[in-house]
Amino acid sequence: MKVLVTGGAGYIGSHTVLSLLENNYDVIVYDNLVNSSVESLDRVEKLAGKSVEFVEGDICDKAALSHVFKKFKIDAVIHFAALKAVGESAQIPLSYYQNNVHGSVCLLEVMQENDVHNFIFSSSATVYGEENEVPYVETMKLGTPSSPYGASKVMVERILADMTVSNGRFRGVSLRYFNPIGAHESGGIGEDPTGIPNNLLPYVAQVAVGKRDKLSIFGDDYPTKDGSCERDYLHVMDLAQGHVAALNWLNCNDEFRGVEAFNLGTGNGISVFSIVKAFEKATNKIIPFEVSPRRAGDLPAFWANANKANKELNWQASRSLEQMMEDTWRWQSNNPDGYLT
Ligand code: NAD
Ligand code: UFG
Repeated sequence: MKVLVTGGAGYIGSHTVLSLLENNYDVIVYDNLVNSSVESLDRVEKLAGKSVEFVEGDICDKAALSHVFKKFKIDAVIHFAALKAVGESAQIPLSYYQNNVHGSVCLLEVMQENDVHNFIFSSSATVYGEENEVPYVETMKLGTPSSPYGASKVMVERILADMTVSNGRFRGVSLRYFNPIGAHESGGIGEDPTGIPNNLLPYVAQVAVGKRDKLSIFGDDYPTKDGSCERDYLHVMDLAQGHVAALNWLNCNDEFRGVEAFNLGTGNGISVFSIVKAFEKATNKIIPFEVSPRRAGDLPAFWANANKANKELNWQASRSLEQMMEDTWRWQSNNPDGYLT
């Protein structure tokens, strides 16, 4: 089975490509490398002992996409390609809607023109917005996220719902990721942010390796156990395997038409202070930090109810917090400058 993976050179994409190869899927990666390098795929090939087809291109370029669909007989698409920096999305919202929403529409159009109907979308816990109560469950209505990035994910989920009405053959899955962290256990692939990391774990890892002086903890006065925000952190390899589970689910459910959403998380909320402690314990490194003001748009706490993925996809996040920390550190210490190392 041939799977087109948009954004497959990125953080979650590269780990998923590895899992797909290990499960005997053929993979074609389509990526414009705006936030990644092909080095990630060279390393994936070495780890898997198999090759990946790579096409450099933009999802907004329908002609280039069409060419890919004509050249390779694609059976299913996993769509990671997107811009993902929450803060940046408020500065340049039009770029986010252009890339994430218009780009997704271009991809769906080309799929339809080429009679490809199996689609897995990278959605996010952010689609539950501010109005839903935790733990988040898929039966809740889509909410109102505080950022244009989050809004772009809600819009694509709505587009997928409309597709199921207009195209009776469409088979879509929205995977709502919580907070993926960690790296492949080899330390060969991992998260390689450009510039100052926006996310917690890459920042902590860069402090540990000496690239940053100290961590700023954004707020210690939230209504949580220790005052810092709580999130549902899951290992990126568990998340990668969630995509394989979703693809297997589509393959086993011939009759399925429509779109289904699944939360991919552990079901546990972990605070920022607990993450720092867990990282220090797993790595024997001290992480200097200061408490800073709250970051705009942060919710106090959210985590998943992941029962649906467990029951229907036969998927569960199985890797421990300790392993997430150890694998983050193995990747960061082996590759202090990411893929440039
Ligand atoms: P990433 O930036 O590492 O990967 C995204 C990839 O898409 C990159 O390789 C980038 O070069 C590519 N890309 C971006 N725009 C493109 C375009 N127009 N055409 C072709 N390629 C393009 O990010 P990631 O963390 O791996 O995230 C993957 C997906 O998961 C994204 O859709 C993101 O919104 C979603 N997601 C991520 C998180 C997270 O915490 N990392 C959480 C929830 C959802
Ligand atoms: N944090 C710090 N210091 C930092 C970075 C983060 O204290 O330097 C805190 C944040 O305030 C937050 C927690 O660490 O409380 C986690 O922050 P991240 O930026 O790592 O993750 P978010 O939960 O804010 O966002 C992530 C993804 C989004 C996605 C969202 C919901 O980055 O794409 O989860 O799925 F929308």
